[in-house]
Amino acid sequence: MASVLSLAATVHQRVADALSAALPEAGSADPLLRRSDRADFQANGMLALAKQLKGNPRELAAKVVAHLPVAATSADPDPVIADIEVSGPGFLNITIADSAITATLAARAADDRLGVPFAQAPGTTVIDYAQPNVAKEMHVGHLRSAVIGDAVVRILEFAGEQVIRRHHIGDWGTQFGMLIQYLIEHPHELDHKDASSGEEAMSNLNRLYKAARVLFDSDAEFKERSRRRVVDLQAGDEETIALWRKFVDESKIYFYSVFDKLDIEIHDPDVVGESGYNDMLAETCRLLEESGVAVRSEGALCVFFDDIKGPEGNPVPLIVQKSDGGFGYAATDLSAIRDRVQHLKADTLLYVVDARQSLHFKMVFETARRIGWLNDQVHAAQLAFGTVLGKDGKPFKTRAGETVRLEDLLDEATERAAAVVREKSEKKLSLTEEDILERGAQVGVGAVKYADLSTSASRDYKFDLDQMVSLNGDTSVYLQYAYARIKSILRLAREDQRPLAHPELPLAPAERALGLHLDQFGETLREVATGYEPHKLAGYLYQLASLYTTFYDQCPVLKAEGGPSQVENRLFLCDITARTLGQGMSLLGIRTPERL
Ligand code: ARG
Repeated sequence: MASVLSLAATVHQRVADALSAALPEAGSADPLLRRSDRADFQANGMLALAKQLKGNPRELAAKVVAHLPVAATSADPDPVIADIEVSGPGFLNITIADSAITATLAARAADDRLGVPFAQAPGTTVIDYAQPNVAKEMHVGHLRSAVIGDAVVRILEFAGEQVIRRHHIGDWGTQFGMLIQYLIEHPHELDHKDASSGEEAMSNLNRLYKAARVLFDSDAEFKERSRRRVVDLQAGDEETIALWRKFVDESKIYFYSVFDKLDIEIHDPDVVGESGYNDMLAETCRLLEESGVAVRSEGALCVFFDDIKGPEGNPVPLIVQKSDGGFGYAATDLSAIRDRVQHLKADTLLYVVDARQSLHFKMVFETARRIGWLNDQVHAAQLAFGTVLGKDGKPFKTRAGETVRLEDLLDEATERAAAVVREKSEKKLSLTEEDILERGAQVGVGAVKYADLSTSASRDYKFDLDQMVSLNGDTSVYLQYAYARIKSILRLAREDQRPLAHPELPLAPAERALGLHLDQFGETLREVATGYEPHKLAGYLYQLASLYTTFYDQCPVLKAEGGPSQVENRLFLCDITARTLGQGMSLLGIRTPERL
């Protein structure tokens, strides 16, 4: 496995070398190279440099050019730069040699990782994502955390980071007193016929939850029995704990069935819910109080912040322990930080959680920094995501005003996608009904994931299934069809081996544009991994598919005008495009069927 230096990196290096050779007084100035429409790359660094050296930028640029080996003048048998010219106030316009484009892609193609390097200094990241709540239905809000988290896990692991997953499910709290008490009084409410049916599990839980709630609100004695049950639960009473576990296990059957539909793998040992930190809570409070980071205020243990105030200007503290001795969400999260830093040895903690919890995390992180659990070596960040909106631009609800069940959404997406696949396939390949349903699921779930991942996480987005499963525009369906189309060309070519590159051939403009974009894969992934920005990967892939479409329109592949070696070179471009698309989509957690 060898990482391949991108053309951008190579050119950057050459221009930087020429710069320091031509202008030793400039030190190591940055040539500021970027992709450009005018030529392949443009370097703008001479402008700032001229200011600094009080020279004429065009003259400086000309000096740099004199130090750059260019195809026409160079003794280098494989020159990278075909042409370079000074333009405008002193830019360098750089054109890459066709042979260098093809040769670099060939080097990428020879590597399983497509030449993408590993991160230079990988660390250990604990990522907190896909964290629904026990005995509650998963709704569209839980979609984002799971989908974004899964993509970030894949992207970080591909970069070589050690990733530990944590699903911080809501599995503790006073509501369990009511649920357990109800179950004691109605012992068969959770029985079901099919032990593995997520649907049955959830409908039981739902029914039980509603019934318990009604009783709790109407029957003062039941309410009192429920309160005592909370005390038993917290005291670790065996019977009570066993029933609590029943709720957790039932919910997990349901969660796993939804994650399965979402095509997201969740492993049981990574599900460490709020209850997983119970043994640490008292100690966390003691440490915070003894260090003075938290103080008692009206009996509660609180952390105060200068910049966090309520509407009347009074301070809003983070409450670590309530005045009745109970621990809440903050105590759990602070204990989880201790666990993740001290036991799991993380240097990065990432939380894929709704932006509406940002204040909570801001306070929790600041508290952890004050006591030293977070510091210069270990840092935490919330990857805060926005709200899923309906077509009307308001938070997504059913017509009756209820939150939308995630499962219903996925089922609908799959149905619509199956219709698209069915319609398309009638024209060309004859797929069996089973194939159509399987691909419908891959396309439908892919569409939902892609719509989520292709906008920056922090922004709200509209959940619009019509748009999501559209064949045109920035959708996963478009990308999946591009992939399948390439695969069908490769099948038609009937090559037993991967097609080889022919760097000696000149390239058409659409081939160059495609090739230069393919070359950016590694750099794009690095940016995506450092900034936790899957939407930039989605954008890259969409552009890749668009460039491929243009290439396909302009450059005949199997009937290439230049004969067998050009056919093979174009097949090579098809192949590396498909591999890059497939790899990129898989990092987003989206399948790419071979035939569509
Ligand atoms: N279960 C919570 C919810 O549904 C999300 C948990 C987020 N993670 C955390 N460490 N607090 O809102």
